[in-house]
Amino acid sequence: MDLSKEVREKLIQTALQVREWAYVPYSGYRVGAALLSASGRIYDGVNIENASYSPTVCGERVAVFKAVSEGERQFVAIAVASDNGGSPCGVCRQVMAEFGLDLHVIGVDKDANVTYECSLRELLPKAFTPADLAE
Ligand code: THU
Repeated sequence: MDLSKEVREKLIQTALQVREWAYVPYSGYRVGAALLSASGRIYDGVNIENASYSPTVCGERVAVFKAVSEGERQFVAIAVASDNGGSPCGVCRQVMAEFGLDLHVIGVDKDANVTYECSLRELLPKAFTPADLAE
């Protein structure tokens, strides 16, 4: 599926909107993600923190897990919104890489400025993927 201008904008707006649901009592750093599946659906996610800190889950992974748990396996693009438009952490890159390195990743800050836009392949060079486990 190609990413039209309208859908790209919808992803960005969704990622920005869902930030209000981020559960961030410790860092205060709100992240919203909007993931477009090949089926055309958008799955959102926010970061969810925990008093024990390490169980914290990033917004990107929540979006991926919501989608995968509903049967999705192919993804086209993800928009990630945060205050400063920071790029996805290494764990999230690895989780997204499981489903394909062609994923288009768009980062935006709280004012909807695009801070980066590239493929997951660029964000995670020489990735370890399911292909590495194939015989
Ligand atoms: N966080 C994300 O949600 N995504 C990232 O890729 C970077 C970090 C969250 C985790 C934690 O809740 C907060 O941002 C500060 O690290």
